[in-house]
Amino acid sequence: MIERFEWKPEYTVGIDSIDKQHQELFRIFNKLADAVSGTYSAKDAATAMHEMSQYLGKHFTFEEPLLTKHPDFDKHHLEHLKFIENTLDFQIRFADKDNNVHLDMLTFLADWLKTHILEMDKEYFGYLKENNLIEN
Ligand SMILES: [Fe+2]
Repeated sequence: MIERFEWKPEYTVGIDSIDKQHQELFRIFNKLADAVSGTYSAKDAATAMHEMSQYLGKHFTFEEPLLTKHPDFDKHHLEHLKFIENTLDFQIRFADKDNNVHLDMLTFLADWLKTHILEMDKEYFGYLKENNLIEN
């Protein structure tokens, strides 16, 4: 059973623009989950995978300048780089017509959304807000 992500108020990082982007990531994730489960559509799955990597690129570009004042910014940046590397692997597997790629990518994304967005982003933006290093 493929998990879907519903936005909950407790997921907020306290910055509206970032919350909106995270909600958009959830929406694209669910699109991918729908394409892979039930009446499987390879075309929809490919579209959603593409949309996800495009949107994440934009999201990181927006998010990173806001995080530079955090003392552990480098660690966060590295996590983003690792993530991009992983999605490139998925794209290569997809191009190779690997049938397990969608499910593997969904599992990876579900875990990443939980651990990165709901934990790391929350912690970093929380610190920046507490120390008046960011405005909403
Ligand atoms: Fe992040």
